[in-house]
This record gives sequence, structure tokens and C-alpha cells, in this order.
Amino acid sequence: MLSPFPLGRPARMAVMASGRGTNLEALLEAFPPKNPWGEVVLVLSDNPEAYALRRASRRGVEAVAIPWRGRKAFEGEALGLLEARGVDLVLLAGFMRLLSPAFVEPWYGRLLNIHPSLLPAYPGLRVHARVLEAGERETGSTVHFVDQGMDTGPIVLQGRVPVLPGDTPETLERRVLFLEHRLYPRAVRLVLSGLAFPPGEGLKALLGEAWPRFQEFAPGEKPLYLRAVALLSAWGLGHLVPAALLGQGGDWVRGAFLAAHLLAEDHPALRQELSELSREVRLRAEDALRRVESPL
Ligand code: GAR
Repeated sequence: MLSPFPLGRPARMAVMASGRGTNLEALLEAFPPKNPWGEVVLVLSDNPEAYALRRASRRGVEAVAIPWRGRKAFEGEALGLLEARGVDLVLLAGFMRLLSPAFVEPWYGRLLNIHPSLLPAYPGLRVHARVLEAGERETGSTVHFVDQGMDTGPIVLQGRVPVLPGDTPETLERRVLFLEHRLYPRAVRLVLSGLAFPPGEGLKALLGEAWPRFQEFAPGEKPLYLRAVALLSAWGLGHLVPAALLGQGGDWVRGAFLAAHLLAEDHPALRQELSELSREVRLRAEDALRRVESPL
């Protein structure tokens, strides 16, 4: 098994936020009640004053503050609530505390975070100021599975924006937030479809001789290959996966990689190429794209 998803039913999601909650709002809008992907059933905060809690209550979503009295107490209560509400997927959205292995381990693969940089660059705080100080020409945001590090863990999806002359941390923050509000729901749909997952034993077995090759890819490159692998296995073509990773394969492999690219970001040239593949391949690929792109 590559991923615990798709579930075959709408997912029950929880969002954890410490502050203003614009990403929470975007998630609540992207996954309204009774949509087939799933719903946000619980919002948790370590900060009773978080505006995120108000946003949730306003939409009739259960909002719970667990005031910070140390990591152990917070995590114990949070884990209990997630279990009690039957949550399938936890989304950190501006949650500014580090979670311990006791929290992260049982949720590994079902716990996501969004961070306002092109990870692994610029983890931590004061991201936009540091990006400007370094003279970067481009920045962005990353949705990733949470592991035991700070802003580490396998990447699900990244989006990019330019850094413009005259930018301040505030203008950059606004630009990145706008991007995040589209990026996070899309990343969640990829995870819920089983098209994004942390590389584990299932993948290693499927890749066989191509596993060392996969490990050589940069963190930002891996998600593309994972989506292609997930598509090929969903199409019943798992036997093509090792060849695909080694740069071989015919129309089906090509279709899987084109779709894997387009699942992250639209690209007219790639759409054109897809339209020129054999009908059988094209239909499969377009079906996968349609499912992730037409959210409701
Ligand atoms: C977002 O930009 C998110 O990426 C960042 O906090 C902001 C929260 O905004 N998260 C981190 O820095 C986590 N390391 P919001 O409260 O308006 O969604």
C-alpha cells in the first residue's frame, strides 16, 4: 500500500491554527459541508485568542482552544479529541508550535503542514525577511507531510511566486498567502486521492532496482515521481514503475508523467502533448486531472 487514501468516503479533517487563520478560511471554503472530498469537522488552537477559532465558529465548525500549558498536556488533549471526532487527516495552518514524536508518529502520512518558503530553503521564522536579505528572485510555499523535524518531511506540493524589486516582508507575505490559499486545498485533494504520500516500504518494494535512483532526487523533485508512480499503480501498471523511474517506458509512462506535472500546475504545452497521446492513455490521464481540479 502506497497511501492510506483514498478512503472511499468523504474524509473528516481537523485544522490546527495559532493565529489569524486565512489558510483555515481557504480550507473551509474549499471543503464545505457535504462535498465529496470531506469536511473540516474540528479546529484546534493553542491560543484562545486566535482569530482562526472565530472563523470556525462562524461557519458552525467545532472550535476548541487548548491553552498551552506545556507540550505533553496540549498533545494529550489534542490526540484525544482527534480520536474522539474520528479525524482522518490533520492540517496545520499557521500552527506555530513544534509537535513531539508522540504526536507526529501515530499521524505520520496523515498530518500536513504549510510553510511560506520553498523548503528545504528557509525553514523556521522570519521567512520573508530572510528571503529578501538573501536577494532571492523567487520564493513560494510548501505543503509537506510532518515528520519529527521543524518544517521538514516529504513534500506534497510547492508553488512559486517572484520576488519583485521594492518588495518588503509585508508585500511578499501577501503574495505568498494568496498562493497558499490555492495551494493548500489542492495539496489536500492530492493526498485524499492517494496521489501524494510519504515514501515508505510499499514504495521501496514497488520501485525495486529503481529505489536508489529515487533517493537521489532532490526533495522538491520527488513529489512529481510519486504522483507518476501512484497514477501508474492506480491504472494497474505497477510493473512499469521501475522502468519509468529509470527514464524508460512508452506512452503510458509518458502520460503518467504529463498528468503528474499537470496535477501540480497547469501548463499549456504539456496539455497539448497529452492531447497527442493515444486515446486510452489520454482518457485515463484526463480523468485523474479532472478529479483533482474540479473540487466539488
Ligand atoms: C502562513 O503563511 C503559513 O504558511 C505560516 O504561517 C502563516 C499563517 O497564516 N506557517 C508557518 O510559518 C509554519 N512554519 P494564516 O494564519 O493567515 O493562515
